Amino acid sequence: MSGEGVKKVAVIAGDGIGPEVVESALAVLQAAGAELSLIPLEIGLCRWKRTGAALADEDLETIKECDCVLLGAITTPPDPDYQSVLLRLRKALDLYANIRPFRSCDLDFIIVRENTEGLYSGLEEVGVEESRTLRVITRRGSERIAEAACDLAASRQKLTIVHKSNVLRSDRLFLQTCREVAERRGVLYDDMLVDAAAYNLVVNPQRFDVLVTTNLFGDILSDEAAGVVGSLGLCASANVGASRALFEPIHGSAPDIAGKGIANPIGAIRSAAMMMEWLGEQETARRIEAAVQRVLANGVKTPDLGGRCGTAEVTRTVAGYLEEEGGSLSEE
Ligand code: NAD
Ligand code: IPM
Ligand code: MN
Repeated sequence: MSGEGVKKVAVIAGDGIGPEVVESALAVLQAAGAELSLIPLEIGLCRWKRTGAALADEDLETIKECDCVLLGAITTPPDPDYQSVLLRLRKALDLYANIRPFRSCDLDFIIVRENTEGLYSGLEEVGVEESRTLRVITRRGSERIAEAACDLAASRQKLTIVHKSNVLRSDRLFLQTCREVAERRGVLYDDMLVDAAAYNLVVNPQRFDVLVTTNLFGDILSDEAAGVVGSLGLCASANVGASRALFEPIHGSAPDIAGKGIANPIGAIRSAAMMMEWLGEQETARRIEAAVQRVLANGVKTPDLGGRCGTAEVTRTVAGYLEEEGGSLSEE
């Protein structure tokens, strides 16, 4: 990591709509007056096509020298031996907590997803007639994700532990450990089976505040939650570890709309705001979120939200509000 002074951000635009939404996020950061040193890295399908490797070991070294990473999206290459870049980064940087906030006019909840183990253990045996994936739940992994969830829940209402302990014995350890941490931290909590949680997210999402769950459940529930608040294109995430972090919208590279100029940039913009918050620039993060909310309230929306605006117009409007605000502040 770099020392004091201007923070170094590795920027992985990636594939599909990744570069489109990252360009938006960077334009908004600039309009918000963020001072950052950007290190662009070509990683993903684009790189794989050129070199046969989506991510090289040198990239990992460069990333480790930066303060954090801003990522667009990466298309999974059509290679049976492909090792996911995102999973590699999450493991190599030990980004164990995936924090995914969901907001709309009447909803505000956060999914805290364990990010390094569970069904993403990478322990797999692949055969022609039978394949296996080992689901790994550890006490340490459960403890640290429960702590991260309690850090958030402490200043909110309640924690809900989401699991499938009626079937998966590995989830008994997850549930028990999360309960112990919540008790010790004095956080109000309940728990719910993941199938019921999927249902309740649709019929009664207001009941949720902070949810903590294992890796794959968190992956699936967060796309569902994105649908509940209106679009995948609105939602951001922070992948955080003890001293490193990677920020990305929760959506993928959306090949169906790539290159059309209609991708919703808000998930990437909000990811940039989460990055500024993590970097200690809370005021910049708050101003970006306020500008996003104003843009949505004024109906400046991409087609996924039923609007008619393109990526560029939404970006220009968010940036314009921030510059306007900057202007009026400097006149005071
Ligand atoms: P996806 O998230 O890319 O798209 C799902 C649907 O949501 C599509 O209809 C898409 O058009 C829409 N959508 C997504 N983002 C949007 C946005 N910003 N604005 C408007 N609409 C948006 O999921 P997929 O199609 O299943 O995956 C495509 C590729 O992305 C796959 O190769 C997958 O492995 C990869 N992926 C990468 C990441 C990542 O890098 N973080 C995350 C998820 C999927
Ligand atoms: C996400 C994505 C990734 C995941 C994929 C692309 C490896 O879906 O960040 O939600 O499954 O974690
Ligand atoms: Mn996902």
